[in-house]
Amino acid sequence: MNVTEKTKITPWEVTGKVDYEKIMTKFGTEPIDQKILKQLSDLTSGDIHFMLRRGIFFTHRDLGWLLNRKKAGENFYLYTGRGPSDHTHIGHLVPWVFTKWLQEKFHAKLIFQITDDEKFLFNENLDSETTHSLALDNALDIVALGFDPKLTEIMIDTDRSGLLYPQAVKIAKKITFSTVKATFGFDQSANIGMIFYTSIQAVPAMIESVRNGKNIPCLIPYGIDQDPHFRIARDVLPRLGYLKPASIMSIFIPPLSGVDGKMSSSDPNNAIFVTDSEAVVKRKINKYAFSGGRTSVEEHRKLGGDPDIDVSYQWLKIMFEPDDSKLKKIHDDYRSGALLSGEMKAILIERVNSFLKRHQEARERAKSTLQVFLDDH
Ligand code: TYM
Repeated sequence: MNVTEKTKITPWEVTGKVDYEKIMTKFGTEPIDQKILKQLSDLTSGDIHFMLRRGIFFTHRDLGWLLNRKKAGENFYLYTGRGPSDHTHIGHLVPWVFTKWLQEKFHAKLIFQITDDEKFLFNENLDSETTHSLALDNALDIVALGFDPKLTEIMIDTDRSGLLYPQAVKIAKKITFSTVKATFGFDQSANIGMIFYTSIQAVPAMIESVRNGKNIPCLIPYGIDQDPHFRIARDVLPRLGYLKPASIMSIFIPPLSGVDGKMSSSDPNNAIFVTDSEAVVKRKINKYAFSGGRTSVEEHRKLGGDPDIDVSYQWLKIMFEPDDSKLKKIHDDYRSGALLSGEMKAILIERVNSFLKRHQEARERAKSTLQVFLDDH
């Protein structure tokens, strides 16, 4: 969808400057306001995740409704996903880290869909063996983040077609070609798998209701680029007798090149992958991370830098510095000129590398426990 003339957001591509206020208006979603934060706080003993406090998760659909039902004693389940086109990058971790927090706080079951079919259909350069092996590779990252094995089911689409396909056809029958064309902007050259695909992404939003024979509310956390799929799902599911899924959406971690747009695997120098080595992380951040600093140290000391356009600061804010007071000090020191750009980058490099060290070790260990997550729950 074109949000403004220069900005395009689809589940496969984000270009231009992203104005999140405008997106909310255009997509018709609600802001995460004080009322929602209070509802969340009441149900989590006052523990509000920093991504909520800082507006990283900034918008939702029907979250208030879902939390009211939870308060009245009704459980909900979580659903999120990954399209395996490459190794996982830091951007993908934003919704997953937050989903893990939701799982812990609400003791909720999580369905994690890995859409190897999607990436095969949408990417000319990937064959189906590659997308399937990337699905298994990406699944290790999900396990490594520490989701509860009893409460987490990872579904790789082509392995779970027996479960997904019978539901997908019911959904597909309710979606016209013109809706798909208008929602995703496909032209005549789109293959017919692309046209069908959204019905597969909709299935996990109702699958627990199908399995349990009664409606169970579903909450889907995701980066805002995935929203078009769920607009369609919310339209179709009630027509099949299921609830509309609720959702909570985040902003994007920007690419290293600057604060506009989203980090994406298609631009490897501007993304950091969870498999990158310490030296690669250091090189990429030092070489490519756009700086909000001044041209000389003297000028920077005198005038200060701009954290709003400094990618290293933005990554700390979105993901790598959960402590509000530490983040504020970094912000204020940068603004005043006490903290230099190179020092800001050094803080980020240290945070990313210590996160990745732990993650990479957990990823190795995940190889022996992965199967538990892939089994039918
Ligand atoms: P994928 O693999 O493109 O992205 C996985 C998740 O990561 C989010 N994301 C980002 N978040 C913040 N900053 C970024 N730079 C960034 N890049 C990606 C995406 O919004 C997404 O939440 N079709 C989906 C797979 C899928 C799915 C789902 C995603 C299937 N079912 C349900 C979310 C919810 C895809 O290709 O995601």
